[in-house]
Amino acid sequence: TSKIYILAIESSCDDTSAAILFNGKILSNVVANQKIHEEYGGVVPELASRAHQQNIVPVVHQALVKANIDKKQLSAIAFTRGPGLMGSLLVGTSFSKSLALGLDIPLIEVNHMQAHILAHFIEEEEQSKPSFPFLAMTISGGHTQIVKVNHYFDMEVIGETIDDAVGEAFDKSAKILGLPYPGGPLIDKHAQKGNPKAFSFTKPRVDGLNFSFSGLKTGILYFIQGKLKENPNFIEENLDDICASIQYTIIEILKDKLKKAVKETGIKQIAIGGGVSANSGVRAMLKDGESRYGWKSFVPKFEYCTDNAAMIAIVGYLKYLEGNFSDETVTAKARYSI
Ligand code: KG4
Ligand code: ZN
Repeated sequence: TSKIYILAIESSCDDTSAAILFNGKILSNVVANQKIHEEYGGVVPELASRAHQQNIVPVVHQALVKANIDKKQLSAIAFTRGPGLMGSLLVGTSFSKSLALGLDIPLIEVNHMQAHILAHFIEEEEQSKPSFPFLAMTISGGHTQIVKVNHYFDMEVIGETIDDAVGEAFDKSAKILGLPYPGGPLIDKHAQKGNPKAFSFTKPRVDGLNFSFSGLKTGILYFIQGKLKENPNFIEENLDDICASIQYTIIEILKDKLKKAVKETGIKQIAIGGGVSANSGVRAMLKDGESRYGWKSFVPKFEYCTDNAAMIAIVGYLKYLEGNFSDETVTAKARYSI
């Protein structure tokens, strides 16, 4: 059997990441988070691009050191071509192109959204993988999609957000409550101590399998502003219940669409990914779906849920096996569908 070493590079948003994959197994997965955006309450594209330029060489170096291999052993370089922020993508793309050219090894472009889904195929002990066909729900600060996955590279987006991503809904709600960015994990933390039925928020009406979260955010804003007029301490006095009610509403929205997707496709395997997969309510909802509706759910290791190069590496490996390479004219693509 051949020994395939893939170096993968991810730079689509605000995390610079490099990973080494040996056949199907991850040897290293280094992620440099960009703290700089915290004070702005969101990702600032120009700053993200600059931070990638500073991080990329040390991050790639660390990935090689941690995997204990020399770059001369690499079989190919996989990189995120898109979708994402153009300035961020350009850093990873040009770096990968130059390195592949210098080492004279194949270059493999990867679609970031496919990678979130194929992260389920990274070889891990005691982790069961979905079998084809399955439904994938990618939920993060930048994405909200339901995808019908027929095979590795045969996927169909059957639902997606028409405005904000679900992680944004968490983060913007948190901001309204005065919580620091990114507030999703904090909402989750408080929600676990609160009553999910304490307050009710209107769920959006969106046709089919698409999502909308911007109306919910506005609803929450008006609700909080109204309450603060009556009681300036409303947030502090009710934080757990407010968070629980917000989280409950968001999870109900996700659950309704999943139920609909299962009904329409007849597929009961649900594989999730993206940073919001960490949410305790999302996990409980999937577990509940297993006993109530006969779903089978799959959640990858958390470090493969958030933006990371390990997921880029597994796609690189699958493409390598097919001989599906890119040439040096390949360019970054900010909008790039599955
Ligand atoms: O995948 P990710 O690290 O980056 C991208 O956005 O691509 O996801 C980050 C998002 C943020 O919106 C963050 O608030 C949310 O995932 N998040 C959570 C939780 N952990 C992370 N949202 C709700 N509950 C959590 N436990
Ligand atoms: Zn992502």
